[in-house]
Amino acid sequence: MMIDTHCHLEKNDYQDLTKIIKNMGNNLMIVSTASLDDLEEVINLCEKYPNIYGTIGIHPEFADTYTEKHLKNIEKYLTHPKVVGIGEIGLDYHYTKENKDKQKELFIKQIHLANKYYKTIVIHTRDAIEDTYNILSQEKAKDIKCNLHCYSGSLEMAQRFIKLNATFGIGGVLTFKNEKKLKEIVKTLDLKYFLLETDSPYLTPEPFRGKQNEPQNIKYVAEKIAELKQININEVYKTTTNNALAQFDIKYPL
Ligand code: NI
Repeated sequence: MMIDTHCHLEKNDYQDLTKIIKNMGNNLMIVSTASLDDLEEVINLCEKYPNIYGTIGIHPEFADTYTEKHLKNIEKYLTHPKVVGIGEIGLDYHYTKENKDKQKELFIKQIHLANKYYKTIVIHTRDAIEDTYNILSQEKAKDIKCNLHCYSGSLEMAQRFIKLNATFGIGGVLTFKNEKKLKEIVKTLDLKYFLLETDSPYLTPEPFRGKQNEPQNIKYVAEKIAELKQININEVYKTTTNNALAQFDIKYPL
């Protein structure tokens, strides 16, 4: 079995979402909210498909536009049996640094929700890794787990995050020809720190880079990990699946 631990399956993005989900067979998907208005859509997918779980949260790009009502809605669904984490949340200074304080405030509020409801935190961080690290180390309860989705930081930073109970989501970027840093990280760190993800519909792995991504493409990421670590692909599936089940406290009937 394999688990796509981070994808976005908004029906507006896909011509035939039912088929995309079918393509995964009995493998699991963890669908993450992507906008301020797709919370119900994620919950509906979780309720319709036994192999879909969800993480819900407010992405930093909405730091200026979210309202308390959005946060209350997130909190309401954190006790839903298929909601296994809060995310993706975090900091993104790539598009704007103007609202750093607002981004931090929203991030901290949601970390506190994770602490309160004992949920794994799924983190989006872009051009903001130092602040992300500092806030997490100050605000996150010690026993709460976190996952840095689509990890793009350094090896040294990864080692610091591991001390905060972190794992790293590895996606299509690993298969890109010019990507060196992430390949080094995958070679160096133990497989127990990695989860597979696609971030569909974005970041499509080779050989389909440029096309729309979908969860079943996760196999190309797994293949690349096996090649880099010189291990059998079944070991990649087995270990990353166990990592993900533990990370999100999922007791899927296997
Ligand atoms: Ni994402």
